[in-house]
Parts: sequence; C-alpha cells; structure tokens
Amino acid sequence: PVLVVDYGAQYAQLIARRVRDLNVYSEIVPSTLTTSELLAKNPAAIILSGGPSSVNADATPIPTADLFEAGVPVFGICYGFQAMAVALGGTVEATGLREFGGTTLEVTETGRLFDGLPQSQSVWMSHTDCVSMAPEGFATTARTAGAPVAAFEDTSRRLAGVQFHPEVAHTPHGQAVLRHFLYDIAGIEPTWTMSNVIDEQVAAIREQVGDKNVLCALSGGVDSSVAAALVHRAVGDQLTCVFVDHGLLRAGEAEQVEKDYVAITGINLKVVDATERFLTALKGETDPETKRKIIGREFIRVFEQAAREVDAQSHTEFLVQGTLYPDVVESGGGTGTANIKSHHNVGGLPEDLQFTLVEPLRTLFKDEVRRIGTELGLPEPMVWRHPFPGPGLGIRIIGEVTAERLEILRAADAIARAELTAAGLDRSVWQFPVVLLADVRSVGVAGDGRTYGYPIVLRPVSSEDAMTADWSRLPYELLARISTRITNEVPEVNRVALDITSKPPGTIEWE
Ligand code: XMP
Repeated sequence: PVLVVDYGAQYAQLIARRVRDLNVYSEIVPSTLTTSELLAKNPAAIILSGGPSSVNADATPIPTADLFEAGVPVFGICYGFQAMAVALGGTVEATGLREFGGTTLEVTETGRLFDGLPQSQSVWMSHTDCVSMAPEGFATTARTAGAPVAAFEDTSRRLAGVQFHPEVAHTPHGQAVLRHFLYDIAGIEPTWTMSNVIDEQVAAIREQVGDKNVLCALSGGVDSSVAAALVHRAVGDQLTCVFVDHGLLRAGEAEQVEKDYVAITGINLKVVDATERFLTALKGETDPETKRKIIGREFIRVFEQAAREVDAQSHTEFLVQGTLYPDVVESGGGTGTANIKSHHNVGGLPEDLQFTLVEPLRTLFKDEVRRIGTELGLPEPMVWRHPFPGPGLGIRIIGEVTAERLEILRAADAIARAELTAAGLDRSVWQFPVVLLADVRSVGVAGDGRTYGYPIVLRPVSSEDAMTADWSRLPYELLARISTRITNEVPEVNRVALDITSKPPGTIEWE
C-alpha cells in the first residue's frame, strides 16, 4: 500500500481517497509508528500528511532520517513537507508570512511534479512556518509569495514534497501533482480497481469463512446490501440474510429488499414482518429518545430470535458487518490494535450468540462501496440510497407513531423523492427527510370547504459527513411541484413547509 502518515490533519482521509482515485491502494497510519514499523508494512510509497504542529516546536513528531534512506519513495505535504526538510538537513522558519487559503504558485523549474502543468497556478495553502532552504540534493521547483521553497524533489532518491495541499478541490492541478509523484517519481502501477477489490475480498472471505455458515442483517441501506452481496459472491448459500421489516421504512423499500435484491443476487433471505410488534411497542409514545430506545430494543429482540432460528437450522459462526474504512480509522483501527466497535448495526447480541465478524468493506470509503455495488449489479436506487436512520419514519413522525400516520408520511415522502429524482438532483442532496407534524393541525381551504389538516416539512440538506449540514437550495419550481402534488394527492395534508435551518443549530432529523 501507499501509507499516509497522519500528523493530525483533517486531510489524511482525503489524501488516501485521492491516491485511491488514481487506482493505487492507500491506507492511513498514525504518526506514532516508528520507521521500522512503517517499513514492515512493505509500503510502495509513504505520504507524510499535513498537521497542526510546528516542526520547530518541542515534542512534535518528526520522521527520522533513516526513513528517507530506505529506498521507499516519500512525498511530504504541508507539515509533512517541512518535517521532511528538517529531517534531511534543510531549514524551516517562521517568517511571519502566513498563507491561508488560495494563493498563486509560480513553478520555477518544471521537474517531474509539475510536468505539463501551467507555470502559474492556484493552490490551497495553510501554513505559518515555511521551508527557507531545501535539503541538499533537492531541486526547488516552485515558490509562492509566502513560501520561497513551495515544492522540491530529488528524483534519484524518489523523494518530493509540496507546501500546498494537492488533495483539496481548491488546488485544481493537485491531482496531477499527486499522479506525477505516484506514477512518475515513485514508479507505481495503477492496478487497484474495483474489480480487483472484489476478487481480493471474495478470496479473503472464502479463506476466513471456509465451509462455515454466515449470517447478515440486511437493512436496505447501501453498506449492508453491498457487504451481503460480496459475501454471497464468495460463499453462496452458506450466507443467510435476515431482514427485519419494522414497518418504518419508506414506500417501496421493504419490497426492494425482498424482491429486487433477492432476484438480482439470489441470496437466501429470511424476512421477518414485525410491523405489528413495533407499532404495539410504540403505542402512545411521543418522546423522541424513548421512541428510539423502543425501536432499538425491539430490533435486537426480533433479530436475535431470527438469528437463533437460522443457527438452529444450520449452525452459524460468522456475522457480516458493513463497517467502512472511516469507522476503522476513527476508532483508532489504523493502529492495528483497537477493537472496532462490534455489532455496530445490530447492537448488543446476547453472550450465547457469539459470532466472528466478517467485514468485507472495512478498507473502503463510501463512494468505493457504491462502485462495488454497481459492479456487483445491485439496483441503482439501492446503491445510491441516501443515508436513512435506523429508527426510520418512527423519528420523522413528530408525535405518536400510528399506522395511519405512517401511511400519510409514506405518501408525502414518495412524492418528494420521486420529484427529486425526476429533477435529476438525487446526488446533489445528502439526505431529504420529509417530516409529518402529527400533533399540529392548520386551517386551509379546498374546493369550497374548510380543511383542517397536517403540515408536512421538507428537510433537504447538503452535507459531507452529517456532522454539519446546510439546507439545500432546491429550485423553486421543484419545491412548488412537490408542494402541489402533496397537498393534492395526500388528502390529510393541507400545508407544506420548507426547513431552512443549518446544522448546527438544527439537526438533520427533527427528532
Ligand atoms: P442528526 O439528526 O443528528 O442526524 O443531524 C445525523 C445523521 O444520523 C442519522 N440519524 C440516525 N441514524 N439511528 C441511526 O441509525 C438514529 O437514531 C439516528 N438519528 C439520526 C440522520 O439521518 C443523519 O444521517
């Protein structure tokens, strides 16, 4: 792999993704690894990321010179660039010329990194210190107003670095710079493709599982669907999926899992229709947290029962989890020691139901999981499904959840989703919750008569990771169509409102 050494940058994941976009596999590792630990991973190249520290402060992590003598290509970015300069005998100073944001880079010597790129280009910077003298043997190839040495390279030793951030979208030629380092300086072949990943994962799953049986909780979401499809490709009928229909999914979603998914994959699927059970458990409950707890608790009980039945029929030793790479990195998995949150999606299973986890997506980012899903032939609406909360429509009905209210919300939600799709905007919003204010009524007029109906709230948001979000500026014509259709086609609803709150202070969901 190409190892991205994380010096505490918010950019480390982005760097790894950009490298993978160039069809080169890359992993993030913590800066606490020693040179020999890094080399033990047999890296094709090492990228030192940016980070918040100053290389001149005490106790900042700086790679030792032997890292650069091992014959492994190394690329430094921002802090990593400065750390590299210091380790190899160059100088880094606080000149007082800070640069944050877009700035112009002047290429002073083309070299390999800037081969074929404009002599003057905009780059994204974020630094207070700068390299004032490149180490011996390096050619300085670019400068900016605030950084006399903004890039250097020593192609004979396959070492290079840049002060700016090539990984961000604000550096238009950044991806070309990374490509030049990986392909031309490091000499890496771009062979990491999704079809290779599928082959590798299939082999790894077969190796792990052998002839034992495997269980998977299918939720209808992207991750569990793709994980199950991969495991099915590897071990076929040794896999049984359980789909707990809690009755809180959107229109057509349960059918999609039950029919389309099975038709395409040929997977063994056990469907548990637990709608009545969830409705009964939720009866009379209006508190959001209590509703969540009830849904979580019932889900575990139903899944546990189904798991016992599957296990009784054919002894099962493995459980599939759709854990993704960001979860692994964030829970310290990069160190190789942390215990990744187990049973993340199905909560705590009882002691006597012990499974070993199969996590075929744990090296992948979400967009890669989608590409694998597409390659495996899963239906587009499933592969591109927006994130959807486990408690489903249960937390999008503000007030008590009843069968009648679920019908109303499903009808309104289906219209909003269909219109968004028809406008071709599915991929430009992160999520589009549609919320029923079930305890509110407002007066309206229809035909010659007074109405007294429920309001529906549209909550389209854009986001990168759901931690922060902004309300999506959907076209007025689209909003108008959604509003007209909902008030015409869903008789219980006589008003449609648009939520224009960012997160924070609002959350994405209303409960
Ligand atoms: P909020 O509303 O906190 O949501 O801004 C952030 C993201 O998490 C989803 N969400 C949930 N997912 N169980 C889940 O599995 C939950 O209880 C839950 N609550 C919110 C939400 O849809 C958004 O993607």
